[in-house]
Amino acid sequence: MRIGLIGGSGLYEIEGLETTKEVSVATPYGEPSAVYKIGTIGAKEIIFLSRHGAHHNIPPHKINYRANIWGFKHLGVERIISVNSVGGINKNLSPGDIVLPDQIIDLTLGARESTFYDKDTVIHVDFTNPYCPEMGEVLIKASHAVKLPIKTSGTYVCTNGPRLETAGEIRFFSIIGADVVGMTAMPEAALARELEICVSGISVVTNPAAGTSEEKLTVTEVIETMKKSAERIKSLIKEAVVTIPSSRNCPCKDALKDAEL
Ligand code: HPA
Repeated sequence: MRIGLIGGSGLYEIEGLETTKEVSVATPYGEPSAVYKIGTIGAKEIIFLSRHGAHHNIPPHKINYRANIWGFKHLGVERIISVNSVGGINKNLSPGDIVLPDQIIDLTLGARESTFYDKDTVIHVDFTNPYCPEMGEVLIKASHAVKLPIKTSGTYVCTNGPRLETAGEIRFFSIIGADVVGMTAMPEAALARELEICVSGISVVTNPAAGTSEEKLTVTEVIETMKKSAERIKSLIKEAVVTIPSSRNCPCKDALKDAEL
């Protein structure tokens, strides 16, 4: 069983991951963000990909999400843990908090290549619950084991970026029920579902969302908070990887059943 790990801003590698090999994958959709680093945590094989490129030179709206996810499938990955940074909209969230989102509002639709099925096959995958429930449970148990308090649910609103939001947009997102805002959860999660790969998102609140604090929002703050949170995230991931069951017992693995027209 191979587990994919997507690192975002401030999480470019994972210590304890003994990298044994680096592989470039050529995909029908072009180039993935970087080489895939294959390694192990305990007895589990992990494949790491840096979402924004090895040198953080790919902005969220230019990421080749299809190539990234196709590459994971090609390498035999069945589950992906996807780490991202977010702005906190919900007043109960502060920088440094870790959220496992269970819902997504996608505001990137139409702006990004968001499906593998745009030619001859018409597929509508069920996406009621965008993240894998089984992996969610594993991560929650892992957080208890490593004594790391996390928020076990939340709605992630995904904007296209690269600009940050206006205060008015954040007020609107709050009214429609969003807890956090980021730029990378979509179409990543939907593409994985189309290839029957499970995904769990780990969102790190790196800043109060626009207009919710007096401070000016800066990228330095985002990266600094992410760096400070890296150790906690890594310990959570290591514990989750070690305890994840080897066979899947979730709806994601059968996402294409009854999904074709
Ligand atoms: N908005 C959008 N994306 C983000 C933010 C934000 O405030 N912080 C980190 N990623």
